[in-house]
Amino acid sequence: MRHHALIQALPKAELHVHIEGTFEPELMFHIAQRNQVQIPYASVEEVKQAYDFHNLQSFLDIYYAGANVLIYEQDFYDLAMAYFEKCAADHVVHTEMFFDPQTHTARGIAFETVFEGLWRACQDAKAKWGISSHLIMCFLRHLSEEDAFETLAQAAPFKDRIIGVGLDSSEVGHPPSKFERVFAEARAQGYLTVAHAGEEGPPAYVWEALDLLRVSRIDHGVRSEEDAELTQRLIELKMPLTVCPLSNLKLCVVNDMSQHNIRRLLQQGVKVMVNSDDPAYFGGYMNDNFYAIADALDLSEEELKQLAIHSFEASFIDEAEKQKWITKIRNLAV
Ligand code: HPA
Ligand code: ZN
Repeated sequence: MRHHALIQALPKAELHVHIEGTFEPELMFHIAQRNQVQIPYASVEEVKQAYDFHNLQSFLDIYYAGANVLIYEQDFYDLAMAYFEKCAADHVVHTEMFFDPQTHTARGIAFETVFEGLWRACQDAKAKWGISSHLIMCFLRHLSEEDAFETLAQAAPFKDRIIGVGLDSSEVGHPPSKFERVFAEARAQGYLTVAHAGEEGPPAYVWEALDLLRVSRIDHGVRSEEDAELTQRLIELKMPLTVCPLSNLKLCVVNDMSQHNIRRLLQQGVKVMVNSDDPAYFGGYMNDNFYAIADALDLSEEELKQLAIHSFEASFIDEAEKQKWITKIRNLAV
């Protein structure tokens, strides 16, 4: 319980959250009923019992099934507003939210339906809680590069409201190199790039994300530590790693939170910060992730502040905004 008051009080930015991964079972039931869609669970308790994952794929199977109940613009709006409410409670003041268009377009839901629902929630969250946000569209890496190109084309009318593209889903066997051309095209169109790498996949995938996809951040990246030269490169580049502690625990990337390497990476000078990934599935939002590592790794006040500062430094907000939040963090006394 050490430092929980500080963690609560710290302004934080969240840079790695999949909006489909914030779908709480209660809301899933509610929307399923509203849309008259069948789900293979009898109760909220039964849904939660299914959340017993042993690796990334065992989670993804359930995560994609859950997303099936989302059909209308209002569904995407409700989903995002529920997440923003958690942000407000956790003092997350800025978020850069992933969404997976292909999960929905493959079911016949229009890109526009997904996008406009999320966008309206982003506007309302700013008005209601003062929370700023950016949207990042992810390509599903288990699908083809051609499919990703098609998604990029569908995004064209909304391009000015999407800050970047990312890469998620089943990592092993689907290296960043598979998407080199579509990422080049996305960059040419003005999108920033990020990619999941080094979650379950090897350090070689992190090298590829840096060298071939020219990313501004690595999502997860915790396996980078296995390659000393790569770790050195990340430090030199000041390359952010968007680390997700509870996700790593639930998907068995680490066996115990006391073995998590976020503190070691921080001490070596890697720009790591804390994120929730898929909080409805992994047992907690931003502050729960902070509490889990603060307790298991005995983090100091200074380290907790550094993690929060990194979240703003690594964000895509403008320099003046960054400095405003960093100064607030530096001056925070609890
Ligand atoms: N890894 C890969 N794909 C994902 C994740 C993740 O942690 N969450 C949602 N899609
Ligand atoms: Zn993720």
